[in-house]
Amino acid sequence: MNLSSNELRHLLTTSDPAAIDALTAEARHVRDEVYGRRVFMRGLIEITNHCRNNCLYCGIRRDAHCRRYRLTPEQILDCCRIGHALGFRTFVLQGGEDAWFTDEVLCTLIRDIKRQYPDCAVTLSLGERGRDSFARLRDAGADRYLLRHETADRTHYGLLHPAEMSFDHRMQCLRDLRDLGFQVGAGFMVGSPHQTVDTLLEDLAFISDFRPEMVGIGPFIPADGTPFEHERAGSVELTLRLLAIIRLLHPHVLLPATTALGTLHPTGRERAVEAGANVVMPNLSPQDTRALYAIYNNKLSTGSEAAESLADLRLRMQAIGYEVPVDRGDFA
Ligand code: 5AD
Repeated sequence: MNLSSNELRHLLTTSDPAAIDALTAEARHVRDEVYGRRVFMRGLIEITNHCRNNCLYCGIRRDAHCRRYRLTPEQILDCCRIGHALGFRTFVLQGGEDAWFTDEVLCTLIRDIKRQYPDCAVTLSLGERGRDSFARLRDAGADRYLLRHETADRTHYGLLHPAEMSFDHRMQCLRDLRDLGFQVGAGFMVGSPHQTVDTLLEDLAFISDFRPEMVGIGPFIPADGTPFEHERAGSVELTLRLLAIIRLLHPHVLLPATTALGTLHPTGRERAVEAGANVVMPNLSPQDTRALYAIYNNKLSTGSEAAESLADLRLRMQAIGYEVPVDRGDFA
């Protein structure tokens, strides 16, 4: 759908409940037309919280005094084995920018996963790398890559990141990933410090133009020990509104109901699905490392086993009329 910048500004700022209801109902309808009442699941494996970057918002930034861990390839394959038995057909390897995970280590791992589970998609979410590195990962069989752009406004980017990080390089990575044949995920935090309606309009313009196959958005949540620890959290309501707008702008997009939403609101993920989201990403990481992947405070991480939290999520989705199929859930 084509929405003018004035219409978008109105949708972002209106406090008319009828307008917001109409927006989410339309987003639901559009999602149902493209994907049906189906929510795809991805098994999230948080492979390392070591990170060379120092993003001002992130709880595992280089300067954070958090306990560091990394999973071995064997542990990661173990997570995949458990996940496959549970019906996951996409594995998302997510982590900080950790030099231990060289191209060689990752390529071997990707090949092992693809050999053992040829019916599965492998998604990587490991930050910025060089084009050659992305090319090797793609050749090894990786299907998708998530790299949030964080903000499409260059000045705003500079306020969220240290000077050594570059907006241009982030955007170049996204274009390289696209060129190399990855399904690409972009995205941003809602309510990050210094965000304005204008920077959000730039995010929406970027999404309409680049048309990433996936868009991950969730509320900003302060993380202890970071420069933004005393900033306010983003709004659940605005996040839901943005999910609905993104569904309308880009009907085929894969749109996760993120953990950050579930963290700020007990039924945040259900409400996201009712606003047009169609992906959930339950955690398949080993129980003892989940709490360490603390990118923000109070991150939702049940003490329960992967099987138990998946069963809970399935029930929650069924309760609002959605099924969670055993399916790779590719971009349609
Ligand atoms: N609150 C919400 N989301 C965060 N991220 C990082 N730190 C936070 C935070 N404090 C998001 C960023 C990043 C992804 C890994 O998690 O958008 O890309």
